[in-house]
Amino acid sequence: MADPADTTGAEPAILDDALARLGDIDGRTGAIMQSLIRHLHSFVREVEPTEAEWLTAIRFLTRTGQISDDRRAEFILLSDILGVSMLVDAINHRSEATATETTVLGPFYAGEQPVLPYGASLLKRPEAGSELVMAGHIKGSQGATPISGARIEVWQTAPNGLYDVQDASQPAGHLRGTFISDASGRYRFITALPVSYSIPDDGPAGDLLAVMKRHPFRPAHVHFMISAPGFRPLVTQLYIAGDPYLASDAVFGVKPSLIVEPALVDGTQRITFDFTLDPAP
Ligand SMILES: [Fe+2]
Repeated sequence: MADPADTTGAEPAILDDALARLGDIDGRTGAIMQSLIRHLHSFVREVEPTEAEWLTAIRFLTRTGQISDDRRAEFILLSDILGVSMLVDAINHRSEATATETTVLGPFYAGEQPVLPYGASLLKRPEAGSELVMAGHIKGSQGATPISGARIEVWQTAPNGLYDVQDASQPAGHLRGTFISDASGRYRFITALPVSYSIPDDGPAGDLLAVMKRHPFRPAHVHFMISAPGFRPLVTQLYIAGDPYLASDAVFGVKPSLIVEPALVDGTQRITFDFTLDPAP
């Protein structure tokens, strides 16, 4: 393979020409385009794809676009399984030493859902799995004061391992909901104990996992997006202790501080977890 550091010959001249033609782009966009072209050329010079291989890559990205719609976010999946989503997450949350840790949004956020009352159930039909009660507080990281009026958006899979947007048999909005923390900063809701599930592996992202000889499973989790005026929004997930995929999550989303262990109380699985938000910058 060619040495990408080689600065002589026709190949670097193509790079120089591509960079020189960028035009007068200032600021962030200019810096991003410079870097994108440099790294893309460097990758191609290192790999030296055949023309057939390059066409395979183009077709792969074309299929990724073609399979995507408002219910299927294949480019988010690609970003997730390559570890890029978690890298972007890490870069953007370097300074939050005290807030609850963040993790990937994932491809199954389905927009704002109706606000449900304190203690309500996310289930829009009965499910065979174990019932789970989740409760706790939303707090500010400085002084641990409770935050009332925080918006808590929740979503998760059904016990069959599918989100409502993947499964026509589920009522729309099943296992999704929005809650508002009360005057003491408390939240509480009833749901079904989440299960580990396969990300959609019948498209380009699944094909790529197979090429990399990786499994498509995520450990059981519940997604949260929490926001409150004056605080940085928090996008995170809580993972169920003991799940066999905690150490090999297909999207690299697990952080130890986000692993929780349900406790059996009066015959019901319960998780108590306090979320902590940092002040808005
Ligand atoms: Fe998920």
